[in-house]
Amino acid sequence: MSKRFKISPGGKLAGTIRIPGDKSMSHRSVILGSLAEGVTHVSGLLEGEDVLATIAAFRAMGVNIEGPDEGRLVIRGVGLHGLRQPQHDLDMGNSGTAMRLLSGLLSGQSFPSSLIGDKSLSSRPMRRVVHPLTEMGAQISTAEGGTPPLQIRPADGLRAINYQMPMASAQVKSCLLLAALYAEGKTCVTEPAPTRDHTERMLRGFGYPLSSDGSRICLEPGFRLTATDMVVPGDISSAAFFIVGASIAPNSRVEIKNVGINPTRTGILFILKQMGADIELKNERTVGGEPVADLVIQSASLHGIHIDEAHVPLAIDEFPAILIAAAVASGETILSGAEELRVKESDRIAAMARGLTNIGVDITETADGMRVQGGQIQGGTVDSQGDHRIAMAFAMAGLLSNTEIMIEDCDNVATSFPDFQSLAESCGLNITVINQ
Ligand code: S3P
Repeated sequence: MSKRFKISPGGKLAGTIRIPGDKSMSHRSVILGSLAEGVTHVSGLLEGEDVLATIAAFRAMGVNIEGPDEGRLVIRGVGLHGLRQPQHDLDMGNSGTAMRLLSGLLSGQSFPSSLIGDKSLSSRPMRRVVHPLTEMGAQISTAEGGTPPLQIRPADGLRAINYQMPMASAQVKSCLLLAALYAEGKTCVTEPAPTRDHTERMLRGFGYPLSSDGSRICLEPGFRLTATDMVVPGDISSAAFFIVGASIAPNSRVEIKNVGINPTRTGILFILKQMGADIELKNERTVGGEPVADLVIQSASLHGIHIDEAHVPLAIDEFPAILIAAAVASGETILSGAEELRVKESDRIAAMARGLTNIGVDITETADGMRVQGGQIQGGTVDSQGDHRIAMAFAMAGLLSNTEIMIEDCDNVATSFPDFQSLAESCGLNITVINQ
């Protein structure tokens, strides 16, 4: 069965809402809670399919995890050396984060393992983790073409590396930091541009020391993780659809409570504000080592910009939504330096280019981004390519379209935002889900 979203044109967004927990932090709280000594309580967890895959993997490795129950988990950590050999392949579903982070962790274990994924994940590049892990001495192989499944055999001891990452990727950075917990010597990873730093913050939160100096982060083995309580804030990447929807639909006002505003994640706020958006941050505070705020978004008339390439890694998951804003802004918006979008859950440049063209938007696709001429959205049918963020972004386009927008292949919205439809509907989006 495959879900479609039917969006009837028009409407505005209004209300005070909470969005689901941050996906990146939810994965990491399961991983680090499992490796800690003692009992970790997590609240605010995203109960999306991606995170459930990570939970299932740690259960298969002998970790006792209770929940999730209304965003709460109780994890009885087994310590850094307490994982057991799983009796079956570990299925990471749609989640690149789960697969790449676990590849590093599993490379340091004394048992073999095998990581598999769904159709989308099975076509995503894994050499970006396999190359540096192999340099550390890991015994890890991919399918031909450098894609999953990943087969991992126990290494004869991992050794530390100094690694200059060729691309800005928090998944690669985090993979190597997790492998470094098991490597002899001090591993240092240098990133070409800042990426989300939840792994570093959370390792420290579990009492594990790290040193960082500008873009270089170093970690040595020999310490331990101590259980703690983790409070996961709302995911700015899920808030993104409502931020864009409220910005573009006239007479909208949405307040989104409890959103994570870690500076490595807030590129969308810079970019939309540069386009003229009216976004206010209220009640800024720190929760569990992460900055959090309530966001108030009111409609504004947006104009096109050339997006600063320095903001791209800080908004990497938000471009489907941002490109919908660009489609209705006055003038041209140029996105460049975003070739990483081609290797996400779908090729997001191609998927957005095709979808925008189908609904009557004038765009030019480029190798590393696209140019969008803002104007009137017509309507039509869009293939989400099974990509959750493409589906949710086009749903918001319906707020300003002339005719209906039909979005195909929306099942994977459940990977990051299981209640998207009911929340969007409660705010005023004319969305109907059709089960085929
Ligand atoms: C993530 C890192 C990013 C992001 C993904 C989540 C993470 O991927 O796109 O959705 O949790 O570390 P890359 O590291 O490939 O940029």
